[in-house]
Amino acid sequence: MPRKIERRSWAEPYKMKMVELLKMTTRPQRVKAMREAGYNTFLLNSEDVYIDLLTDSGTNAMSDMQWSAFMTGDESYSGSKSYFKMEKAIKQYYGYKYVVPTHQGRGAENLLSQILIKKGDIVPGNMYFTTTRLHQELAGGTFVDIIIDEAHDPLSEHPFKGNVDLNKLEAVVKKHGAAKIPYVCIATNVNMAGGQPISLDNLKQLRKYTQEHGIKIIHDMTRVAENAYFIQQREPGYANKSVKDIVLEICSLTDGATMSAKKDALVNIGGFLATNDDFVYEEARNLVVVYEGMTTYGGLAGRDMEAIAVGIKESVDDNHQAARVGQVEYLGQRMMEFGVPIVKPIGGHGIFVDAKAFLPHLSQDQFPAQTLASEIYMDSGVRTMERGIVSAGRKPNGEHYYPNLELVRFTIPRRVYTQAHMDVVAESTAMVFDRRKKIKGMKMVYEPKYLRFFQARFEKL
Ligand code: F0G
Repeated sequence: MPRKIERRSWAEPYKMKMVELLKMTTRPQRVKAMREAGYNTFLLNSEDVYIDLLTDSGTNAMSDMQWSAFMTGDESYSGSKSYFKMEKAIKQYYGYKYVVPTHQGRGAENLLSQILIKKGDIVPGNMYFTTTRLHQELAGGTFVDIIIDEAHDPLSEHPFKGNVDLNKLEAVVKKHGAAKIPYVCIATNVNMAGGQPISLDNLKQLRKYTQEHGIKIIHDMTRVAENAYFIQQREPGYANKSVKDIVLEICSLTDGATMSAKKDALVNIGGFLATNDDFVYEEARNLVVVYEGMTTYGGLAGRDMEAIAVGIKESVDDNHQAARVGQVEYLGQRMMEFGVPIVKPIGGHGIFVDAKAFLPHLSQDQFPAQTLASEIYMDSGVRTMERGIVSAGRKPNGEHYYPNLELVRFTIPRRVYTQAHMDVVAESTAMVFDRRKKIKGMKMVYEPKYLRFFQARFEKL
């Protein structure tokens, strides 16, 4: 009797041509490394890491086409032909009129915040991102969260947890007046909410409302193609549209964008500011030479811009996104089979484990997510990241922000790891879950002033 096949597996739309060998470590080695790193996974040496899920930022595997374009980089100080290739790709795939390159996303956030924000301004957004909010604050603005409540609930299965609550926005406009709001900052596939998308329907409503009030929309388009994939999969009316077309439609509903090309665009470094606005472009051209470099390289090598141009094109391919988001889904499903509490629905760039539910016996002051990330590393050499109270930092008045979400992020680099790696990750997390009651919290013993999660140090209680 021939065996009946109940499901057809999918696999990545690429094969490997080169591999990077990894060091295997023992538990005593990892315990020592973790202690020396102050129980902060950012402070580990990557050599001591087996599977590195710290971030999906700059950790992508480039394609052979990107590497070959890399070799053709024009390293001229000014007017590099590589810049024009990148500009052409940005116009073609994202539709923005003007482009100013920056060394990475936060370089663009700095320029944009300085240009558009005045002291006392209010910047509403669909949840904060660390560097984005800090640049808004440094420019004199105050960030206000206007994401729907479901985004702060790890158990809510809302398909578009990146959506804006228009009532929240309206309350901000009523309280402060539209003149105090230079723009609304809209992230596609909201990182801190767990890689959750915004729907086109919501974005269209937001566009209508903001246009009526003369408020711009600035798009944090770091993971726009992943968001577009979710729209294709989940939003009525989009099943037959390509990721490429959906990306263009999203961008067309906004006035400008900051981009960290280190994510979606499949490169290891780079970013840009894009805008349709003549004034913003003129100002950005003035500022970029102060902070980043000439307007045709903005802190990037010509070869980086070549790789970005090719990466953008590859990122909007439907098959690429199906495998990319599919791998994240696979890891999430395995975690759920083991009963590990994760943010649902499964997001686009990683799995976010709910550390409050994982370690309910720890108070938020005992840094449950930081603790869990260190335990997982010690178990298997898998490096993850805290996205909870440590990442949230302190308010301008010095108090901790106490975010609802206390998460450990397992971020999947694009095109880097196999499904077998994902199995190792899920099994390690399950092992730590089985002995969770024995895990003790931590205290912070060193706290830097800015973006403390990068360098803070901890000790076990
Ligand atoms: N916006 C979002 C949504 C991001 O996720 C990041 C970076 C940035 C802006 C800043 O871009 O790093 O190029 O300066 N996120 C990385 C992460 C660091 O690990 O989530 P950048």
